[in-house]
Amino acid sequence: MTDVSSHQNQPASRKKPDPCSFVIFGVTGDLTHRLVVPSLYNLAATDLLPDKFCVVGIARKGTSNNALRDSLMKGLRQFATRPVDDEIAQRLLECVTSIEADPKDPASFDAVRERLEKLEANRSTGGNRLFYLATPPDAFAPISRELGRTGLLTEENGAWRRLVIEKPFGTDLASAKALNGELLKIVDEHQIYRIDHYLGKETVQNILVLRFANGMFEPIWNRNHIDHVQITVDEKLGVGHRGSFYDSTGALRDMVPNHLFQLLSLVAMEPPIRFDAQSVRTEKADVLAAIQRAGVPFYLRTGKALGIKRTEVAIKFKQAPFSMFSCTEVDRLSQNYLIISIEPTEGITLQFNTKVPGPTINIDGVEMKFRYKDYFKAEPATGYETLIYDCMIGDNILFQRADSVEAGWQAVQPFLDAWKKAGASGLQSYKAGSEGPADADALLARDGRRWRKLG
Ligand code: BG6
Repeated sequence: MTDVSSHQNQPASRKKPDPCSFVIFGVTGDLTHRLVVPSLYNLAATDLLPDKFCVVGIARKGTSNNALRDSLMKGLRQFATRPVDDEIAQRLLECVTSIEADPKDPASFDAVRERLEKLEANRSTGGNRLFYLATPPDAFAPISRELGRTGLLTEENGAWRRLVIEKPFGTDLASAKALNGELLKIVDEHQIYRIDHYLGKETVQNILVLRFANGMFEPIWNRNHIDHVQITVDEKLGVGHRGSFYDSTGALRDMVPNHLFQLLSLVAMEPPIRFDAQSVRTEKADVLAAIQRAGVPFYLRTGKALGIKRTEVAIKFKQAPFSMFSCTEVDRLSQNYLIISIEPTEGITLQFNTKVPGPTINIDGVEMKFRYKDYFKAEPATGYETLIYDCMIGDNILFQRADSVEAGWQAVQPFLDAWKKAGASGLQSYKAGSEGPADADALLARDGRRWRKLG
């Protein structure tokens, strides 16, 4: 493809976030080491951390500042997405203070408040605070309650206070509602940032741009032209060391109401009035709340230990009328797909029919491919940088609102209920390394359709 833009590789300059303290609960855990700190490092390397900044690492079993810094540095060396510049890493890690606190011990949270206020005064962070709960989900409510009780989350004197919650947000509709209810007693909705890391992926964010910034797609993005949509999130990795988590959670809860529904809502939502958090999140929540068995079918599949890793949204357009070609040797037309690829290659593919060169009319399907890496020289990133940066500047467009989370659970709840009722007899199994259970094919075959061939 030819470069048609004169400035496509120039990243727009981004403002620095307000001074703030970044408080991580679960600082000794995998998520902090694997994603949060490498993302903070990438933000530091691109000069997108606040000038006045401190990181407070909270764990139930505290360590010394030095031991925590060493451990985070080790994690950074292992998980960094780009070569680590020691000077930048040191500057970042010098901001880290280790504090021990356990929600079962309320006094420890009073002590956190005291320590944090002193640090904030030393670092002149202006009292702005971001509490990042990188903990197991059962700790979300107890920690938030303690933060609420100690007043640490109260927005006052112009200072903002934000709460970042990781997934899974609830385990079904009732528990998600209960958690939202608890949190909303403590903070206002605008203070809560519910993370879904899929929204940190460039290609996922690009779905809105593809649809709404191009004159040729949106006019045909409707039931008159789209036959159906296939969303695939296939992983090659198995459950690894997460066997017990997976046994109780399962792929549906782990992937569908969050990641796959994010993809679905971006593809199916109505155009928002404006590209702002309120308008975009409202349209996304409306789509999820409107999910029903009618209209343009969306087929979703996900699984672990499959033959290949592939994440894509394939939009299948309706077949063009064939009658015009019935007097030729052409016996069929290839399918028209628009494919948004997220893994392993980020890009967009358009499949269309073309005439095969030669004296007679012969038609074959061809592909036009756009790959991000051919056009843009972005540094490899974790995908969390944008999310963390957005939390710090107070833009919640990429975060899930309470109604959207609940609408997601509402849509999967009938499956959870039916599977519970069916017990083990409702389970379909497949061989590791295969393409998944035959039932996945049968699902589409019932409607006279088939999955696009992957790989
Ligand atoms: C996580 C799930 O949220 O997403 C994991 O808990 C899954 O089970 C992962 O492997 C997939 O993310 P990605 O970015 O590799 O598609």
